[in-house]
Amino acid sequence: MSETKGFTSSFGAIAAAVGSAVGLGNIWRFPYICGQYGGGAFLLVYLCFVFFIGMALMITEFVMGRHTRRTPIFAYETLAPSPKQRWWRYAGLLGLITSFLILALYLVISGWTTNYFAESAVGRLAGLDSNAITEHFNSFSNSALRPIVFIAVFLAITAAVIIGGVQKGIERVSKILMPVLVVLLMALCVRSATLPGAAKGFEYLFKPDFTQLTGQGVLAALGQALFSLSVGMGVMIVYGSYLPKDDNLLKTSIWITVCDTLIAILAGIAIFPAVFACGQDPAGGPGLVFMTLPAVFNSMNPAEGLPIGTIFETIFFLLLVIAALTSAISLLEALVAWGNEYNTKRSSRTRNTIILCGLMLVLSAVLSLSNGVWNGFTIGGKTLFGFVDQLNSIYLPPLCSLCAVIFLGWVVKKEIIKDELSNGGTLKTGYLGVFMFLIRFVAPAALLIVLITGILNG
Ligand code: PFF
Repeated sequence: MSETKGFTSSFGAIAAAVGSAVGLGNIWRFPYICGQYGGGAFLLVYLCFVFFIGMALMITEFVMGRHTRRTPIFAYETLAPSPKQRWWRYAGLLGLITSFLILALYLVISGWTTNYFAESAVGRLAGLDSNAITEHFNSFSNSALRPIVFIAVFLAITAAVIIGGVQKGIERVSKILMPVLVVLLMALCVRSATLPGAAKGFEYLFKPDFTQLTGQGVLAALGQALFSLSVGMGVMIVYGSYLPKDDNLLKTSIWITVCDTLIAILAGIAIFPAVFACGQDPAGGPGLVFMTLPAVFNSMNPAEGLPIGTIFETIFFLLLVIAALTSAISLLEALVAWGNEYNTKRSSRTRNTIILCGLMLVLSAVLSLSNGVWNGFTIGGKTLFGFVDQLNSIYLPPLCSLCAVIFLGWVVKKEIIKDELSNGGTLKTGYLGVFMFLIRFVAPAALLIVLITGILNG
């Protein structure tokens, strides 16, 4: 991969990587699992995982990507060239499969989000009471055609950005959309935090309740940390390969991690105070955003005049579409970039994108149908959607992450790591010892525990 194909500036690189990290995981998933497992108590554990394990993994992927300037399978191959080490490339392949599956699931939820954005923009959800909203969500997510149409719309926008290229597509779009996302989120936070009765929401989110923090909660915190930082499937290896050679990898990783975490916390502030102020149930789980929140927004609408609740609802779903889009872009880019590298002669960015989007559309349509018409087909008691979701949240990302840290910690020469982190000796790397300790011992132990527990709990 040539230098000119990468991001042109540090800001562009950070915007793109923050775009990947900030997604449905921050705004849809983080608030409800944080609420579920004891608010502030979960947050404390989550912060430790994000900064000690998640960030170490991000640096690991960046080092592999920027050093080799290649996509995961080839990055492993380049760093472990001897015939005895050939099997490491399968770790890269596993990452590729994981990003493929995650993207398929991600598209289903992104399709819902796009639909909800369109519906709230035309005021279709206004006036529905809580029961009608739940009914609406169930009939929509179980129906056959409508979710697939919206998956296709969302996928087409994602594909257009990828076809635009790394600089003119991904970097440019991220530089515009990320600041827009922050502004929209701040507007929602101010609205939510200033509603009468908002204090209870803050308490729910931040007051540590260690009795709620079960072992399950600790595992969920680690899984969420990996998912939220977009590590564990090689996407950050690909983005790492686009980073400028003079980029300070530690600084970039800290920026991404801090932004990602702040945005997750802000999403909690945008959601919970409003949920409490409007007397709704905060423990809505995955349905929090699609069922509880529309009811919250509706209750903000005055009987007459400007439907302020519906306006905030439209802003909220636009925010969610933007967040989902920049994450989906990174997942699709990882696959397209691999295709380009796999077949340099015959493939082009446009051709790969179209082929992959065709495949993705079929797979996500099948997953979407498994929520409704095809829910009779189950694997181990789970619908296909549930099964792929379980693979993606419990097994595959921790396994890929484990491979990456063991590989960099124990197989790759330390001089290579030092050289990458110090930009050829120009930056100080006093933290190298701590980093090596984290990727050699701490991260593998934590990931193994997650994997084993996941397997034992089936
Ligand atoms: N980090 C994204 C989120 O929090 O929604 C999800 C994600 C994107 C995971 C890209 C993995 C990835 F490669």
